[in-house]
Amino acid sequence: MRYESLLFLCAGASRVLAACTRSLLEDATSAYIRAQSSGQPSLLPLASSNLSYSENDTPMDISKGVLSQAVTIDFNRSLHDAAQCATFTEITAATNKHPYVIHTRMLLDSDNKITTIESVVTDDGDWAFNATGQLQWTKQEKWDPISEAKRDSRAVIKGAGDAYLDQWGNSSIQVPLGTPCARLEGGSYTGQRSPTANTCKMPAFPNPLKVGNRRYVIDEELGAVDIFNGFPFLEKSKPASYSVPSSNLIRVEEGKIRYIHEVTVCLTPHCGR
Ligand SMILES: *[C@@H]1O[C@H](CO)[C@@H](O)[C@H](O)[C@H]1NC(C)=O
Ligand SMILES: *[C@@H]1O[C@H](CO)[C@@H](O)[C@H](O)[C@H]1NC(C)=O
Ligand SMILES: *[C@@H]1O[C@H](CO)[C@@H](O)[C@H](O)[C@H]1NC(C)=O
Ligand SMILES: *[C@@H]1O[C@H](CO)[C@@H](O)[C@H](O)[C@H]1NC(C)=O
Repeated sequence: MRYESLLFLCAGASRVLAACTRSLLEDATSAYIRAQSSGQPSLLPLASSNLSYSENDTPMDISKGVLSQAVTIDFNRSLHDAAQCATFTEITAATNKHPYVIHTRMLLDSDNKITTIESVVTDDGDWAFNATGQLQWTKQEKWDPISEAKRDSRAVIKGAGDAYLDQWGNSSIQVPLGTPCARLEGGSYTGQRSPTANTCKMPAFPNPLKVGNRRYVIDEELGAVDIFNGFPFLEKSKPASYSVPSSNLIRVEEGKIRYIHEVTVCLTPHCGR
């Protein structure tokens, strides 16, 4: 009896020790950058079985994907979400022979092994794609950690991101946009305008437009959320209800959206528009 309860205690203790921490997630995103730079997925702490790898919502063999190509990375940003044991990384590869902007979400298990890697991989012909422009602007933005006193809750950060996506289907939804607010959509940028004209306001889309399949990574320290999603309407070669893989990285400062980065995949060049 006593032996059993001791075992139980030990099992409980090891579970606590194995909890997800920011520093373990930072190790995972650093390893991801090294893996993508060298084209060697084996540099990642991958789960030994049942690894799910996909690009643009298509499951594939990790050894056949972009992660198995050495890519020169010019710039990167990551979010770390200990509550979900998840990470997000944005890679800007403008000087690579084949330019890319890649958004990647990774999920880790309780042994801190990666079980899921999914990426939105954009390149020439995708929505507003221009890796040179993306690099030029992202480098100038300030995404410093938010001081504890000014940090927003997960709910506020997620709510701001959701409102931004929801307004596309309903223009009467109030989005907490800051002034200035810069949107980097592919390589096109609102942030070079004057601070007062620098806004992330959107024209209304034809209704109804429902952005579904949302998958979140939230980082309160950075005030940021990334939302992987399916974006309808854009791809002209398909019916309006058809969704293309998309990801929106959103930085919130004191409750207001400060930066938005969008990457969206097109099936036909420039989504036929
Ligand atoms: C394998 O992955 C699937 C989908 O993520 C999950 O439902 C299942 O429980 C996993 N199986 C094992 C043995 O881990
Ligand atoms: C990725 O970003 C980190 C944090 O800004 C930086 O220290 C590192 O040099 C970057 N790595 C590459 C390959 O750009
Ligand atoms: C891409 O962005 C760069 C830097 O902003 C700009 O000089 C270039 O003209 C853009 N290319 C296209 C095709 O728009
Ligand atoms: C649009 O948003 C407004 C404000 O949140 C809400 O009152 C209204 O019910 C929404 N309309 C639809 C069709 O969802």
